[in-house]
Amino acid sequence: MYNDPNRDLKQYNTFGLKSECMGLIHIYHEDEVLEVLEKGLQPIKILGGGSNILLTGYVPAYILKNEIKGIEIIEEDEKQALVCAGAGEKWENFVTWAMSHQLAGLENLSLIPGSVGAAPMQNIGAYGIEQDSAFYSLKAIHLSTGQRKTFVKDECKFGYRESVFKNELKDQYFITHVLYLLKKSDYTLNADYGAIREILNEKRIIDPKMTDISDAVITIRKSKLPDPKEIGNAGSFFKNPVISFVQYSELKNVYTEMPSYKVSDTEVKVPAGWLIEKCGFKGKRYGNIGVHKNQALVLVHYGDGNGDEILQLAKEIQATVLNTFGIEITPEVNIW
Ligand code: EPU
Repeated sequence: MYNDPNRDLKQYNTFGLKSECMGLIHIYHEDEVLEVLEKGLQPIKILGGGSNILLTGYVPAYILKNEIKGIEIIEEDEKQALVCAGAGEKWENFVTWAMSHQLAGLENLSLIPGSVGAAPMQNIGAYGIEQDSAFYSLKAIHLSTGQRKTFVKDECKFGYRESVFKNELKDQYFITHVLYLLKKSDYTLNADYGAIREILNEKRIIDPKMTDISDAVITIRKSKLPDPKEIGNAGSFFKNPVISFVQYSELKNVYTEMPSYKVSDTEVKVPAGWLIEKCGFKGKRYGNIGVHKNQALVLVHYGDGNGDEILQLAKEIQATVLNTFGIEITPEVNIW
């Protein structure tokens, strides 16, 4: 455990926003969570890679920065391997590890910023899959009782960028390890996403391997999404809204080119990036902050700005989208 006297969170959030907190405690081993609880430090908030939060000022809490590392195969046969990863591992490194061990299931999720522990919390997803397709279970510690608990898949209530840890159990558990069931053989790679297919075609790859998919995803992400090391951002700021098919049909009469993905027989998902671009925000800069030029779903911080400015811009975008299309878009990032 390391109690960081410099309680500045700037380097711990990918928006690169300045903010302080009551205490910043780095946790390297699960037992250290119990030590924090014994000291009676409350309230507690948990920080992973800081790639999905917007800090809007002083955080009145002790922040536990998850630094629990380690990746190991704990059980395997000739077809699959059960892998346990420390929740403080970088997700990106975990996927690279899986690729180097020829273990399939996470290749479409390459290069997603953030930690392993945040992956189930958010149910991260990209280019055709969500992490729950390979998720097995996770280990966590309750933040008031100190009780250890294993959550199996059903208990996590995964949905689109949703889980029980963002809802009923918000701020209640410290996730220490996540287990994924990865495939060695008999797996189907997911190359259906248009942009993946295009890259494979360009490279004339007819029978792609898991690393080809991973490489394609890395290429797409690098071309569309800003690198937080260069421009502060937290990936998609909003979720893609789900609307009724009836509402969609009415809008489609006016906006004939409006894209959509089928969710069920009665509902469709509309890309929020398209709605925001149509409202004229794409690539706009407002002093220290703005909307990314290649993906309107991503709000950016150029430096010296603050979280409130970003929140105000987000609210303006939400109001304009609502006025224009009658569609409510909600943030995907956690606002602290
Ligand atoms: N589009 C626009 N303008 C834009 C952005 C998008 O018109 O500025 C339209 C295009 O028609 C495009 C469609 O929206 O074809 C979809 O865009 P994209 O493939 O970039 O995906 P997305 O729906 O905008 C989601 C995830 C991303 C994930 C990609 C790829 C959410 C909130 N976002 O974005 O996840 O990488 O799909 O699977 O679901 C994240 O969660 O942080 C994230 C980056």
